[in-house]
Amino acid sequence: MSHVLFVCLGNICRSPMAEAVFRELVRKENLEDVISVDSAATSSWHIGKPPHAGTIGKLKEYNISTEGMKGRQLDKADFEKFDYIIGMDGSNIEEIRRMLGQPDHPKILRLLDLTENRIDVPDPYYTGDFQETYDLVTEGCRALLANIKVTDLSK
Ligand code: 4NP
Repeated sequence: MSHVLFVCLGNICRSPMAEAVFRELVRKENLEDVISVDSAATSSWHIGKPPHAGTIGKLKEYNISTEGMKGRQLDKADFEKFDYIIGMDGSNIEEIRRMLGQPDHPKILRLLDLTENRIDVPDPYYTGDFQETYDLVTEGCRALLANIKVTDLSK
């Protein structure tokens, strides 16, 4: 079983989008029994809140459900629970490393570092461009799934 956690600043825009997109990819490949998915925030600002309306709306366009999703904050115990802790941007990575007390662990990765397009996922909370974020999140999630299939599921 591989456990995947997506992390961003608020857990209302990018990481819930990645969680929902990745869960859909996992479901389409019938891998729900071998890959688990969750998301969390580095901040405490939106604990218990549903995703941002922009994230809900964009996912709805692609028939991806956000039902039951609620913001939570990253916890120290997450380091042991998850095999992949995926930040959306460089500042998420710094904060994840600090909060988990893990300055340089290979399971803590920036999403688009798994692609040829090694950039931060832009934050649509500030850019307003949920399409751009959706496209990049999807690219990253596809690369992550391919990576897990090669490194974990072929064992
Ligand atoms: P996210 O975006 O990290 O992609 O969820 C943000 C959500 C909320 C805030 C900032 C970024 N905020 O300032 O409340």
